[in-house]
Amino acid sequence: MSKRYSLWALIILVIASLVLTACGGAPAEAPEADEPAEDTGSAEELAVGIVLPTKDEPRWIQDETRFRDALDEAGYDVEILFSQGSSAKEKENVEALLTKGVQVLIICPHDGTAAAAAAEAAAEAGVSVVSYDRLIRDTEAVDYYVTFDSIQVGAKQAQYLVDRAEGTGNPLYLYAGAASDNNAFLFFRGAWQVLQPKVADGTFEIINSDEAVALSDKAELTRQEEANIIGQITTNWDFNVAKNLAEANLTVAPADQKGDVFNLAPNDGTARAIADVFAADSDVTSYVITGQDAEKASVQYIIDGKQSMTVLKDVRNLVQDAINAAVALLEGNEPTAEGSYDNGVKDVPAIPSEVVAVDADNVQEALIDSGYYSADEFENLP
Ligand code: BGC
Repeated sequence: MSKRYSLWALIILVIASLVLTACGGAPAEAPEADEPAEDTGSAEELAVGIVLPTKDEPRWIQDETRFRDALDEAGYDVEILFSQGSSAKEKENVEALLTKGVQVLIICPHDGTAAAAAAEAAAEAGVSVVSYDRLIRDTEAVDYYVTFDSIQVGAKQAQYLVDRAEGTGNPLYLYAGAASDNNAFLFFRGAWQVLQPKVADGTFEIINSDEAVALSDKAELTRQEEANIIGQITTNWDFNVAKNLAEANLTVAPADQKGDVFNLAPNDGTARAIADVFAADSDVTSYVITGQDAEKASVQYIIDGKQSMTVLKDVRNLVQDAINAAVALLEGNEPTAEGSYDNGVKDVPAIPSEVVAVDADNVQEALIDSGYYSADEFENLP
């Protein structure tokens, strides 16, 4: 093209974009965080779509990063969208990906039951659905479930508390995840299996849930009973809710229900919020507090003695399992499954992944030597 033509082309382009902006046709602001991440391929090429629950928790940013790394390396085009804690946004994301022609959808639902509608839209379009980390409930339209062993997560948290409790009457404060997340039930179930006998024998005294106190002789709870307890101790997976609840609990607890306390905190974000509240109460002499996800901020809390433990759920394994399942489905094969999870109407074939308890004693080995994080991301590693 001659210089004169390219100059004309440039002028036309500038005028066109000005007209478009004036008509409101061009974005006035930078794209929002939950808008489509960079489009790495044409519609025809886009094979896998991923929908994650929120960018507001480091846990899901970890998953995004690990997915990008693994899929880039494997040479697959992918688009990753975030639902920002909204089931409506989640459904829109799924529809956007279906329009682009994805063949496999990997969804981590914000709300397990509400996500059934999105999964059904995918199934109607002939697209396979892999439920990622959290189970989509009450629908046939979920083909596979890649997950960590969530019962084990709760069991490891509870065992950590049990191993550190001496004598009887140790104050135990219980906290749980969001009732809209099936995992919150599984974590609590795993924890209850280990804690309940130790409440029944007097080792622990539950302080902040009269529903749990009333059920403390019952080894196996119904889902409704679990829901009743979770209703009293839920953090809704939200740091602020966790902080407010812990403050409310300590406000009503007399000094003899404080002292050396034990906290079942469901994940790292809520653990840090709850730990800060307990640390600030002058009647609390010491606290043991659990977590999960091995978020960097919590690893630093563990090194600093502000959080007792976390449960490493190696996201690299989960991402790899999800990709293997997606590739098998794209090639028309059955992904390998080990067991299944009941989603209310269907036993969904599952691919479970192991979890590891981490505290100050094994942080170096579990998180640094394993290559999960690098030492320079932390200060004062033991
Ligand atoms: C995940 C946890 C996470 C929590 C809050 C759960 O479903 O399994 O890893 O901390 O949701 O996002």
